[in-house]
Amino acid sequence: MYRSLVVSNVLKSISILWLLLVLQLLPLCGSFFNESSVFGPEKLQAFKVFDDEQPDQISGRSFICVPLFRIFNLELRHQIRLAPDEYVAVSGDHPALGSWHLDKAVPLKEQDKDRTKWYLRIWICATQRFYYRYLIYSRNAQGKRILRRWEGQKVARMLQAYEMYRSPGLDIFGEAYPTSVGGGFSLERGWLQYEYVIELKFIWQDHFLISGLSSKTKFRLILTPLNLMDDTRIEVSRYSYNHSAFRPQSKQGVRYTQGSIVVFRIYQPLETYNAFRLSIYQGSKDFRLSVGEAYMFPEQFKGSRGILQIPILASLQTISIGELTLPYLVVHPMPKVEAGNLRASFHQYWPDNWPTLDVGHRGMGASYFQSSTSLTENTIESFLAVEKAKGDMVQLDVQLTKDYVPVIWHGFGFYTSGKDQQIRDRFDLRYVLIRELNYSELKASRVFILKRWTLQEYTHLNVKDPSQNGKIFPKLSEVYETLPKTLGLIVEIKWPQLMASGVLESSQTLNKNVYVDKIIQTTIQYGCGRPLIFASFDADVCTMLRLKQHVFPVILMSIGDSRIWDPYMDLRAQSFQEAVNFAQSAEILGSAMHIENFQSKHQLVNLGLDLHQAVFLWGNHLQDEQLLEEFRVLDVTGLIYDHMDKVGPASWKRSVFFRAPQLLELFGGQCVVSGNSTSIPGAKPVKPTIWPKLR
Ligand SMILES: *[C@@H]1O[C@H](CO)[C@@H](O)[C@H](O)[C@H]1NC(C)=O
Ligand SMILES: *[C@@H]1O[C@H](CO)[C@@H](O)[C@H](O)[C@H]1NC(C)=O
Ligand SMILES: *[C@@H]1O[C@H](CO)[C@@H](O)[C@H](O)[C@H]1NC(C)=O
Ligand SMILES: *[C@@H]1O[C@H](CO)[C@@H](O)[C@H](O)[C@H]1NC(C)=O
Repeated sequence: MYRSLVVSNVLKSISILWLLLVLQLLPLCGSFFNESSVFGPEKLQAFKVFDDEQPDQISGRSFICVPLFRIFNLELRHQIRLAPDEYVAVSGDHPALGSWHLDKAVPLKEQDKDRTKWYLRIWICATQRFYYRYLIYSRNAQGKRILRRWEGQKVARMLQAYEMYRSPGLDIFGEAYPTSVGGGFSLERGWLQYEYVIELKFIWQDHFLISGLSSKTKFRLILTPLNLMDDTRIEVSRYSYNHSAFRPQSKQGVRYTQGSIVVFRIYQPLETYNAFRLSIYQGSKDFRLSVGEAYMFPEQFKGSRGILQIPILASLQTISIGELTLPYLVVHPMPKVEAGNLRASFHQYWPDNWPTLDVGHRGMGASYFQSSTSLTENTIESFLAVEKAKGDMVQLDVQLTKDYVPVIWHGFGFYTSGKDQQIRDRFDLRYVLIRELNYSELKASRVFILKRWTLQEYTHLNVKDPSQNGKIFPKLSEVYETLPKTLGLIVEIKWPQLMASGVLESSQTLNKNVYVDKIIQTTIQYGCGRPLIFASFDADVCTMLRLKQHVFPVILMSIGDSRIWDPYMDLRAQSFQEAVNFAQSAEILGSAMHIENFQSKHQLVNLGLDLHQAVFLWGNHLQDEQLLEEFRVLDVTGLIYDHMDKVGPASWKRSVFFRAPQLLELFGGQCVVSGNSTSIPGAKPVKPTIWPKLR
């Protein structure tokens, strides 16, 4: 069966020259095996014509599978050291390499004591080029693979079919296609699947209150799990420019002084609950004086987030000498996360050779308090107008109703009243939060916006008709379905902040993990295959988006240092510098900062750009052609502003950036990476390899 298929293929498709070559090779391969079954069933599987499953697509130039070994030679450099429970594997689009599934990736064999040299000899054959990348994994108690680090470059390693038969070179872990945009040295942490994360965050001005010690005391901190099983990994990140990263704890502990930012990250298997001890020392690297310790118990980590307030005990005693106030975050994997695969990661995919992008703020701009915009903000109509004005992307605000439906709206709530109530002035209205209403209640609500001197009713725009592009509260899914894929999106996820004064901006009771999951799921289902960046003013939402998925990049939105607004309690949100540190530490794409941070010193944007981070700018002052141009010259990633129709690029730009079909095909990869699709929607089938001329 196999042979006859091969022969007919050969006769159909291969030139005489190839036929001769094939006939020469065949007996040679046969000698690897016994004659009775030249190809055993297992081998047959491995030698299958690569696109056997899509016989229609087999091109006229398909080449039969010549059984040869492929050798993968890998070396770990860049000071990468494996933990004893870590192993190396190769994954690829070829079935023999597991079709990008983590659990089917093929382990390499270690070759030296340092575990830096690895190799694999595998039967593989391909009639088309194939792609592959290396990864480091460990196993949990159930034997499931945990993805620790992987080559997440947008561009995977590629082997042309004719290169199969060349002697193999040496691959360096993490270095794939250094000269290619989207390639180069890059390693990523895997997304969460069988583990969850607890972050203990020193991100406020004051965390310790210890009797007899000044707030300026220099501490060293060590976090220890108090479990019997060795199933907890702890990393810590102390922010400093260009050195912010989660690393294993050192024996001396991590330095901490009031006002610095230190975040502990704990990885644990699902359904595992451990207690922890935080040991607090005073002094330097070489001399440590124990101050005390604080104990944290599993039942204290309730829900997705919270604040621990725990006593600090004198070492080995039960006398309380102070108190530790420490916010925490718990990040769970997404439901059905197994669908995701290793085909690519988009976390860092936003090449810095792209032009500065023009991004419409809430569409054509904020409309409720600035009467000069005729289109209502955050409506599909307003978004569509951005593309007409040759804008490249739209920024929009998304939050969830009580029944977890993602809707577009900027404020945390709005003013409303009873159905037939007569409204004379603002005192007849009450404020209601989006999270307090389910979607049908929201759509049945009267909507008022309170302006300085007047109040205006918008109920006529709160319609249900999905074809009505001017309606307010469009669902996120409707936005994805209606907008063309050539219009990029910055999807800003709303979450109320704690202000530095201690007051909450608004309240939120929905489960934060479910909240974020719902938005990711809606986006994978309806929004994949387009340029899209998640954003949030909430650093924890950014962390969650980063840890839960690898399909969409993430940026931190930030006001930074401002005279206009009150600061947040979270130090990570108080300056551009800390936003850059956060982006580096959390391994996200970058940040979107308020323009006020750069007013007198535009060059400051380089703090982020020099670290290859995306830097977007936003703010009212940006409605100024000259200012926009000044930042374009500095190559910022994007400018988010109002009134694209008046100050935007319509007069000089030939076309919006994402018009290029190649780009859309590229982002189409998101649908495959997330497991929502097996092929890129609308993309043409891969062309067969063009074989080089034989001499
Ligand atoms: C040939 O190989 C098959 C499968 O690999 C094996 O079952 C069989 O015993 C072998 N025959 C001889 C003669 O070695
Ligand atoms: C929304 O809330 C209303 C009033 O509480 C209730 O009657 C209705 O069933 C809810 N709808 C959904 C879809 O949950
Ligand atoms: C950041 O650190 C790396 C490695 O230490 C160094 O090569 C690079 O020049 C630094 N970049 C900046 C902008 O300081
Ligand atoms: C992808 O999402 C669409 C839209 O809901 C859904 O109909 C489809 O079944 C999903 N495909 C896969 C493979 O999950």
